[in-house]
Amino acid sequence: DNYFNTSNKLSGKTVLISAGPTQEAMDPVRFISNHSSGKQGYAIAKAAKAMGANVILVSGPVQLEKIEGIQTIDVTSALDMFEAIKQNADKADYIIMAAAVSDYRPENIAEHKIKKSDDTIEMTFVKNPDILAYLGQCKTKKQIICGFAMETQDLDKNAKEKLEKKNCDMLIANNLFVSGAGFQTDTNIVSLLTKDSIEHLPKLSKEELGQKILETMMKIEEGKTKC
Ligand code: CTP
Ligand code: CA
Repeated sequence: DNYFNTSNKLSGKTVLISAGPTQEAMDPVRFISNHSSGKQGYAIAKAAKAMGANVILVSGPVQLEKIEGIQTIDVTSALDMFEAIKQNADKADYIIMAAAVSDYRPENIAEHKIKKSDDTIEMTFVKNPDILAYLGQCKTKKQIICGFAMETQDLDKNAKEKLEKKNCDMLIANNLFVSGAGFQTDTNIVSLLTKDSIEHLPKLSKEELGQKILETMMKIEEGKTKC
């Protein structure tokens, strides 16, 4: 399928996408985060827009240009992202969690800048809500949900477990240690899992992968309405 005859395939559909990292504050001047660039999530948003969808993009802090003609909701922390996603999930036909959500956040955010004192310091972290697992639990009949998985070992096995545990219809599994894959690159080498299949995709641009993801979601939807 080329770009031109895919346009408008998704007209009338609302696609909710999360992208980028989250930042978890420690004090007014510091945070912990990760290396996510947001490129993959933004590329999916562009592909969805090109296919005629109504796009809602929930974006963590990234250095990327805003995409014209879509709704972008900027968030900082995982808790912010969770709120924005919860508020928009009901409208969504397709949900794609491409964001690299921080698993933990500091238990307390210091009101003032933490002062340097001892040679070592300790900080307690608490678990963030798992947004994708929440969406999987609350999934409506019409919704198709796609998760991502970043692994450094046992990719297929770990990814399959995540797909099942989080009740996703589809999951894109990334191996951080494969070159041309992952956080800061313009290309991705991934495996595409559905409930009953696994496909090892060739190296694709992030936009090509975006289109592939959306087309697979459309196929899953067609399969659903048949039964
Ligand atoms: N995710 C999420 N909320 C979180 C953590 C992850 O929604 N608090 C989503 C990510 O957006 C991604 C998927 O869950 O779509 C998998 O993320 P990943 O970090 O690979 O897996 P985890 O379930 O967090 O497990 P782990 O990091 O221990 O491998
Ligand atoms: Ca994680």
